[in-house]
Amino acid sequence: MKLRVLVFINAFAVAVTLSIANYYFQQSLHAVLVTFSATFIISYIIFYYLIEKYIYSKIKLIYKQIHNLKLGRDLRDALGEHVSADPISDVQQEVKEWANQKKGEIEVLRAQEKFRREFLSNISHEFKTPLFAIQGYIDAIEDDDFEDKDMAREFLQKAARNVERLSFLIKDLDEISKLETGQIAINYTKFKINDLIKEVLENLEMKAKKHHIKLVFKEKYDESIMVNADKQKITQVLTNLIDNSLKYGKEGGTTGISLFELHDQVLVEITDDGIGIEEKYLPRLFERFFRTDSSRSRQIGGSGLGLAIVKHIVEAHDQTINVRSTEGLGSTFGFTLQKAKQQINIAGIPVLKS
Ligand SMILES: Nc1ncnc2c1ncn2[C@@H]1O[C@H](COP(=O)(O)OP(=O)(O)O)[C@@H](O)[C@H]1O
Ligand SMILES: [Mg+2]
Repeated sequence: MKLRVLVFINAFAVAVTLSIANYYFQQSLHAVLVTFSATFIISYIIFYYLIEKYIYSKIKLIYKQIHNLKLGRDLRDALGEHVSADPISDVQQEVKEWANQKKGEIEVLRAQEKFRREFLSNISHEFKTPLFAIQGYIDAIEDDDFEDKDMAREFLQKAARNVERLSFLIKDLDEISKLETGQIAINYTKFKINDLIKEVLENLEMKAKKHHIKLVFKEKYDESIMVNADKQKITQVLTNLIDNSLKYGKEGGTTGISLFELHDQVLVEITDDGIGIEEKYLPRLFERFFRTDSSRSRQIGGSGLGLAIVKHIVEAHDQTINVRSTEGLGSTFGFTLQKAKQQINIAGIPVLKS
C-alpha cells in the first residue's frame, strides 16, 4: 500500500470519528463539516509527516547498515522517486537481494573451508608416506645393529630417497603458496621458445633413457619463435609436463613436443602415448594434490602438485592450458604463450620492439 493512501485512510478515519463525536454533542451539520475538513487536513499532514519521518529514519538506518555506507547518499537519492511511493517494499526487495548475496558469500566461504580442510589432510597424508618409510628403514638398521652392512647401506639409500621426496614436496608447497598469494612476479623477457624446449629436452634426456622413452621435438617452422614470458617459469612448466609424460608414458614410447603459431600466440603441445587419463578425471587434473587412481596405486606419482603449479604459472601469464587424453592411448597437454611483437626495420629485417 502506498504511503499516501495509508495516510489518507488514517486521516479519514480520525476525521470521521471526530465528526461523529462532534455531531453527537452539537447536532449541527455545519460544525460537523468544519470539524471533518479541519481534522482531516491536520491529521493528514501530521500522519504524513510523522510516518514519513519515522519510516525514513528507520529505513535509512537499515539501508546504511546493509550498504555499509557504501552508497554515501541519502535514502531518497539512492532509491529515487520510488521511495516515497512505497519505501517498505523497496527496502524489502533490497534486503532480499542482500540476503541472497550474503548466502552466496557464505557458500563460497564454506567451499573454501572444505578446501582448506582437504588441503591439510592431503598435506599430512603426503608427508606421512615418506616419513613412515624413513622411520621404518632407520628402525630396521637399528634392530640389525649394523650387522648386515649391505642391508644398512641399501636402507640408508632408500631413506635418503624419501628425504629427497620430502624436500621436493616442501619445495612444491612453497612454490604453490607463493604463486597463490601472488608473491611471485612474472619476470617477462623475450626469448626463443625453440631453444628453451631443446634445453629442457637435453636436461631430461637421461631420465627419458631410463624410462626408454624417445623425446622428439617436431620443429615445423624454419625460424625460431620469439615469445614474451618468464623464461625460468616456462622452463618449469615444460619440465613438469615432459616429466609427467615420462612418468606416465609407456616403456618404449615417444613424447613429442610441437609448436603451433597462432595469431599473436604460440601453442606448445606435449604429447605422449602412455597410460592416458580417464575422462572423468580430466576436470580435476589441475587441482592441488590430485592424482588419478592408477598413478596413486602405481606409486609413481610425485606430490600431485606439478600440474597445479603449471596451471598457476600459465594463468599468471594470462595464457591458457588444456588437456586432451584417451585412456590407454596417451595424453596431450597444450599451453599458449604470447608471441613477442616484431617490427620490420628499414632493411626489412625483423627486430624486436622494445
Ligand atoms: N602425461 C600424463 N599421462 C597420464 N596421466 C597424467 C599425465 N600427467 C599427469 N597425469 C595425472 O595427473 C596427476 C597429477 O599430475 P601432477 O600434478 O604432475 O602430479 P604428480 O606428477 O606429482 O603425480 C598425476 O598423478 C597423474 O595421475
Ligand atoms: Mg608431475
